[in-house]
Parts: sequence; structure tokens; C-alpha cells
Amino acid sequence: MAELKVGVIGCGGHAQSHFSMIENEPRMKLVAVAEMDADRLQKAQTDHQPQFVFTDFRQMLDQVDLDLVYVVTMPGHLLPIVLECLGRDLHTSIEKSPGMNPKETRQMLEVARQSKGIAIVSVNRRYKPEVLAIRKLLQERGGAVQVSADYHKPPSGLRRPGIREVAPPEIICDAIHHVDLLRWMSGRTPTEAAQATEVYAHSWHGDREGTPRYNAIITFDNGCRGTMMSHYGVGYRVQTAEVHAENMSAYLDLTALSKITLYLDGRKCETPLNLDAVGGTDFNETRHFADCILNDTAPWSSLEDLVYTMDLCQAIESGHQGQLR
Ligand SMILES: NC(=O)c1ccc[n+]([C@@H]2O[C@H](COP(=O)([O-])OP(=O)(O)OC[C@H]3O[C@@H](n4cnc5c(N)ncnc54)[C@H](O)[C@@H]3O)[C@@H](O)[C@H]2O)c1
Repeated sequence: MAELKVGVIGCGGHAQSHFSMIENEPRMKLVAVAEMDADRLQKAQTDHQPQFVFTDFRQMLDQVDLDLVYVVTMPGHLLPIVLECLGRDLHTSIEKSPGMNPKETRQMLEVARQSKGIAIVSVNRRYKPEVLAIRKLLQERGGAVQVSADYHKPPSGLRRPGIREVAPPEIICDAIHHVDLLRWMSGRTPTEAAQATEVYAHSWHGDREGTPRYNAIITFDNGCRGTMMSHYGVGYRVQTAEVHAENMSAYLDLTALSKITLYLDGRKCETPLNLDAVGGTDFNETRHFADCILNDTAPWSSLEDLVYTMDLCQAIESGHQGQLR
């Protein structure tokens, strides 16, 4: 079986989820990690036993023969690292949000277009098997006509000193997951996400620190309509979506383990979703990335595509009213 040699840059909280997916992917092998923080580097070394560890990611890239790199830093640290990895023709997984703003995403895209490396943005909601199974059903019924998403949380921790400098506004840094999910669920073919053409957004701030509030109504290029709510500092962490097509409605609770309620042709569907048809229960973005690298195909969440998600997030953040382009 092919073995892709993997390096990870940034070994903080979220890297743990990537370590676990890499360890569960038989075509990948973790070879090296780079982390500036000595305690985190030590912990990554103990927990995941890479052959090589570095505090300087450039030394890792200079000294270790890697096929692909996961860049799992805060958005404000991504740009120079991603440009360096793609500039060296490495396949590169980029954490969300891909940069602080759409301009940085476009800078990454420009370099990706010249690179022999494939770039994927790790918007992991797209790759949940339940999301893929519902999306397949939508497409079998001619595509979604209406999608909506809620993404609520306690007060945001992104405004703390030391973090706020490297974290864009919450709709870009965090609620991007469900902005992107709206585009993905609206897509009418297995590999495409729809593009927003019109947005009416309200963006404001609660009285307390870390309580941004967002509402948006969106039209997509294929005629599907979307609505989005994201409020920080409300009751609880709630991440839900609902999608509707002709004679089909599905309610997705993605807050923790995915819970789906599906209605087809006027009645509740009790048959379990066919997850085998979309890659099985353990499908995820790491498996998809290995498939893309080994088959030389473009990832579903390419930089080319994520530029549109970033533009939509930015439009919601700025309270855009009207046509997008
Ligand atoms: N998909 C998800 O569900 C999800 C969940 C949480 C976080 N995230 C994303 O993951 C990213 C990381 O979040 P986190 O919570 O792990 O942050 P974190 O601060 O815990 O970890 C980031 C690590 O990167 C390291 N780092 C920064 N610059 C570096 C460099 N030049 N070389 C080596 N190491 C460097 C930092 O020292 C830090 O340890 C963020 O972009 C966040 O948006 C995604």
C-alpha cells in the first residue's frame, strides 16, 4: 500500500484531531512535526512518536523528505507557512479559515496554481458521512431549493489578547463551517459547491465582549436560497442545518455526533442513511486528501473553491446588501 510521508506544523488543540485521522489512514505515515512551543512539541513527540521533531518548520521542510504537510496554526500564522509549503511543491492541508481575509486566501491560491502540490482546506463539515449521504439524496431529487444553518456558541474566546491578533472575525474564523456548509449543500453535482450571487446580511455586536451576531439571506447561482444565523454569547453551542428539495426535508444536528431527521415524500424516513454509498462511516477529509493525492484529482474543498466561501463570510461580516458579483 502506498505510504505518504506526513509532516504536521502546529501541534495545538486542533492538531490532535488531525493526528488521530492521520494515524487511522493506512496510506499515511506521520514522519515529522514542527511546533514553536517546547511543551507542545514534547507532548506531540511523546503521544505520536514522529521520527523527527523541530521548532522551526523551515528546518523540517529542508531536512525531511515529505509528501504532504498539515498546517494547523491559527489563521493569522497560516499565510507564510502555506506559501512556503506550496512553493516547495508539497501537498498541503490548510486549516480553516484559510487566512485572515479573502485577500490572503487568494494569495495562497495564486501560489497553489503554480505548485505541483495539491492544496485542501480543512472544512471538515463537508466530509461528514451523514452530510454526504443527505447531499446525495438532495441531488437525486434535483438539488436543494432551500438550505439554512444555525451556528451558535457561548461568548467567543477569539478576542483574548494574543489570540485576537491572529483570529479574523468569528464568522470567518469559526462560523465559516456553516457558511461553507450552505454552499456545499446547495451544490447540484457531487463535487461542486454553489456560489452566492446575492446576500442580505446583518452583522452587529452584543453588549458583552465576544458576542458578535449575524443573520443573512443568500441566493445561490443555481437558484437555491439560503438563510444563516450565527450568534455568540447565547444559550449553548448549537450547530444545526436544514435542507429542502422537492418532497424532501432533512434536519441535521451536527453539534456533537451527527443526528439526522429525514422526511421523504410526506413521511418520516426510518431507514438508516446509506453511509457505505458515500465512503463509509469512517470517511473524512484525510481519507479524501489521500485519494486526491494518489489519484491526482482536485479536492472538493480546494483553495479555488474556498475563495467563494471566504467572500461570502466577508460579505456577511460587512453586512452586505445586494448582488455579490
Ligand atoms: N475544524 C475544526 O473543527 C476546528 C476546531 C478548532 C480549531 N480549528 C482551527 O485549527 C487551527 C488551530 O487551532 P488550535 O485551537 O489548535 O490553535 P492552537 O493555538 O492551540 O494551536 C496552534 C499551534 O500552532 C503553533 N504555531 C504557530 N505558528 C507556528 C510556526 N510558525 N511553526 C510551528 N508552530 C506554529 C502554535 O505554537 C500553537 O501551538 C485554527 O485555524 C482554528 O481555526 C478548527
